[in-house]
Amino acid sequence: MDRQAKRVLVTGGTGVLGRALTPRLQAAGYTVRITSRRVAPADRNPVLEWAQVSLETGEGLAEATAGVDTIIHAASSPFGKTKEVDVDGTGRLLAAGEKAGVGHFFYISIVGIDRIPYNYYQHKLAAEKVLEAGNIPWSVLRATQFHELIDRFLRGIAWSPIFMLPTDFQFQLIDAGEVADCMVEAINAGPAGRLPDIGGPCVQTAGELVRAWLDARHMRRWVIRLPLRGEVADGFRRGLNTVPENRTGRITWEEWLKEHCQ
Ligand SMILES: NC(=O)c1ccc[n+]([C@@H]2O[C@H](COP(=O)([O-])OP(=O)(O)OC[C@H]3O[C@@H](n4cnc5c(N)ncnc54)[C@H](OP(=O)(O)O)[C@@H]3O)[C@@H](O)[C@H]2O)c1
Repeated sequence: MDRQAKRVLVTGGTGVLGRALTPRLQAAGYTVRITSRRVAPADRNPVLEWAQVSLETGEGLAEATAGVDTIIHAASSPFGKTKEVDVDGTGRLLAAGEKAGVGHFFYISIVGIDRIPYNYYQHKLAAEKVLEAGNIPWSVLRATQFHELIDRFLRGIAWSPIFMLPTDFQFQLIDAGEVADCMVEAINAGPAGRLPDIGGPCVQTAGELVRAWLDARHMRRWVIRLPLRGEVADGFRRGLNTVPENRTGRITWEEWLKEHCQ
């Protein structure tokens, strides 16, 4: 394959996963175009193509998909207009990709979205169904939570002397860079449908993750168990968002903290 001639569009290229993916795709020989709702910053990497796009309205999608061989769809709005962005926006992106003659639509999804009735997960599942019903050959990879998700959440509540948290929820954190490595491999291989789920090296409770985070940051907080009820909480408590049989990632939470909390 002449990868030099292949252009990959990464939606959500400014996000955690997008930032890990871009250099890896470039190193593998692809021309990379990313999307963002913002205008291109003046100091961006000059070999990176930039397309201003809103998935919510569809603005900029025709220009963004022109001349593209593969779309990696990693833009998402978990806490905002999830239906408009993640479900309808995926439909808009798919339609633009079809018009542009895109040959592979790759979607990054989340382990357990079909087992935990969390609103955002239901929209990710609906987005998977949108692309499965489309006309572009596709791949879907479901990954467990990234380290950054928990770190970002805990930094957000760090001002409080008391952390009231569902300490019995389970997670199998994975490094976003290791997810990106799997994705580049899958892009090289071509459309494959639903790929095997991937997860990090350890299944840990939220309580264990918080204690390691506090230690790494030399912080002390009261950690109190928040007894959440309902099907969603039960799902996370039972670890339905984990895939212990597929410990693809190698980098542990403790190693990630050591690297990022200097
Ligand atoms: N984080 C996790 O733990 C995790 C685990 C498994 C799978 N995933 C999946 O991996 C993907 C990437 O996650 P992430 O954590 O890297 O996300 P992130 O850091 O929150 O980034 C989200 C991206 O979506 C873009 N975006 C948001 N709203 C948009 C809109 N209305 N129109 C166009 N673009 C929009 C943002 O771009 P601008 O702000 O520049 O416009 C940003 O680049 C998501 O699909 C997520 O479901 C995440």
